[in-house]
Amino acid sequence: MSVKITWLGHAAFLLEGSKKVLIDPFISGNPSSPVKPSELKADVIAVTHGHLDHVGDSVEIAKANGCPVVCIHELSRILGSEGIEAVGMNIGGTAVVRDVAFTMTPALHSADVEIEGRIVSAGCAAGFVVELDGVRIYHAGDTGVFYDMKLIGELYSPDVALLPVGGWYTMGPREAAKAAELIRPKVAIPMHYGTFPVINASPEEFKELASKYCEVVILKPGESYEI
Ligand code: NI
Ligand code: MN
Repeated sequence: MSVKITWLGHAAFLLEGSKKVLIDPFISGNPSSPVKPSELKADVIAVTHGHLDHVGDSVEIAKANGCPVVCIHELSRILGSEGIEAVGMNIGGTAVVRDVAFTMTPALHSADVEIEGRIVSAGCAAGFVVELDGVRIYHAGDTGVFYDMKLIGELYSPDVALLPVGGWYTMGPREAAKAAELIRPKVAIPMHYGTFPVINASPEEFKELASKYCEVVILKPGESYEI
């Protein structure tokens, strides 16, 4: 079985194998998104943290598809209150939802959300190793680089790593190349760049620095990579 990985701009990806998995579907309001929320079909949605550019259209798409949203426990309480099935889990654990295994990994990032003008805790930021049809895909979420990425590589040997490279809020190209060195995936795909002016770091710079550790595939929004 192969898995088709489509970049929907920013941190949003669609994984298509025997099941369709949507990660961080920030679609409406995302200037780089090639699709509309109503065009997306999913069996399960995974959300790395509560920030708006990651929760995105999760609730609307979950309602339209009758599918669950997997996320950290506290965020699941917030999203679950909107009338969808939210599956809460936590860092270090693996949840199997609709035959897809989600292992939640740490991320170095904040994750509070603003609800009616107040800052509210939504748990902490995370990443996922998604295992679909035997293919392991690590979505790092929003994060700085940290040495335990080596542990993620050792434990889960991801085939593909989706890494933020845009800087300002996350790793930039230099830090993301160090992440590739620590994780050693077969393929790295840069994300979380180019959406807004402050995250206009160069994916080419990431490719130049990371290519000695793995294959680097630069996608345009809407493009796919098949593994
Ligand atoms: Ni964030
Ligand atoms: Mn973000």
